[in-house]
Amino acid sequence: MRYLLVGIALAASGGQALAAEPASVDWGKIPQKPVTLFYPGESTYDWIIGKGHRGARSVLQGKSCVSCHEADEKDIGEKVVKGGGVEPTPIAGKNGVIDLTVQAAHDAEYLYFRFQWKSNLNREGRMHDYMRFDGKTWKWYGHDRNDKVVRSGAQPPLYEDRFSIMLDDGKVPMFAKQGCWLTCHNGMRDTRNQVVGDPVKKHPIFGETGLKESDIRKYLASSRTDAAASWDKTKSRAEIDKIRKEGGFLDLMQWRVARSAAIRMADDGYVLEYRRFDPGKNPFSWNVDRKTMTPLYMFDAAKVGRKALKAEDIGNAALPAAIIREGNAVAYDANAGWQEGDILPGRLLSRVDAKGSAADNNAVDGTWKDSTYTLVWARKLDTGHPDDDKIMKVGGTYTVAFAVHDDNVTTRFHHVSFPFSLGIGVDADIKATTLK
Ligand code: HEC
Repeated sequence: MRYLLVGIALAASGGQALAAEPASVDWGKIPQKPVTLFYPGESTYDWIIGKGHRGARSVLQGKSCVSCHEADEKDIGEKVVKGGGVEPTPIAGKNGVIDLTVQAAHDAEYLYFRFQWKSNLNREGRMHDYMRFDGKTWKWYGHDRNDKVVRSGAQPPLYEDRFSIMLDDGKVPMFAKQGCWLTCHNGMRDTRNQVVGDPVKKHPIFGETGLKESDIRKYLASSRTDAAASWDKTKSRAEIDKIRKEGGFLDLMQWRVARSAAIRMADDGYVLEYRRFDPGKNPFSWNVDRKTMTPLYMFDAAKVGRKALKAEDIGNAALPAAIIREGNAVAYDANAGWQEGDILPGRLLSRVDAKGSAADNNAVDGTWKDSTYTLVWARKLDTGHPDDDKIMKVGGTYTVAFAVHDDNVTTRFHHVSFPFSLGIGVDADIKATTLK
């Protein structure tokens, strides 16, 4: 069913034709690079350079993480995930490491990645922001495993799995050595001293007159003015824009099993003063007016066989988990005879509506079988959007780092890698094989 719907979505998106279609790579011929993703807990940058971390002084002197932690991933992940130290709020039963296999190839126009890893959960993590009809109104249903409503048992764990790629071209100082830790700071969502609500809303860059956010997400220290890189000590808008123009940002792309996979896309963002989406329109938007909690679309019963899901349908691979505007949706009808327990996705996907730099990752194919995800990702070397994407060249060397959000978690409750060099047809930790 899902693949049929994707077919419809593709046919409808003819207007977005690619200059050249990505190649179909024979992955059996491409070398495999094993990577160990590990659970980092709350090892934010201030912790890394603070008293609690024995490597702090060397990090400040510019040493790489792997200069001390080569092959330490398993030990660190399995220790941290159990709690104590840098994990004050462990999640029971969580795995400390994920074994990832990375393959890479390229032609004149595209970089191709293939990733494989096992999920902890015995189904695809493709449910996110679901709404349940309680007989009178629609209410949010389920949450991530760290949320208090899930920890208390009041709501089921329902959150999407994700695969993330960070990419740099050498313009973010230290990224090649210290990777994603450069983006992770005290004050962010689900870290020590997290800042939410009013202080953020009143901040000139993040608040009502700026990005209109209400919490703090990943950022680079280069966008701040103090040595501690405090969340609120930002440089001016003009200074931040200048850094961006000069390429001092990280590319960050996320394949989202609920919010982009069913339309063969991943999102496209960048990290500088905040984790922001590239300009344009994302593959996903809201399927609900959040002020009145009125859904916008429901499933098209003629195509899906039902207008909504039930709790027992969650995990049924034969049914769609996402509402796709051009694929399986009709406008919400308040008088359609809604019953207590009906469930609708609170997000709306559209490949047709996705636009601009936010829609660059439009050839991303993931499957889940026997608890293994296989993800094939084609990215243009030159997206044509240098202000928020890293532009790659054949023969160039870049830095990549990977993360998986596995089994109903979000924010820092993921598994991450140390950074690796990526050579486009040239030797590196990960060499993208030149396709003939
Ligand atoms: C100079 C060597 C050195 C460098 C460089 C270094 N570390 Fe460490 N790190 C250590 C030592 C030593 C420990 C303590 C190990 C132990 O207690 O078993 C440690 C512990 C850790 C822990 C485990 C925390 C816990 O609760 O057990 C994490 C996570 C960590 N380092 C991350 C990093 C990261 C990320 C970087 C790079 C940004 C880094 N380290 C760079 C030496 C280093």
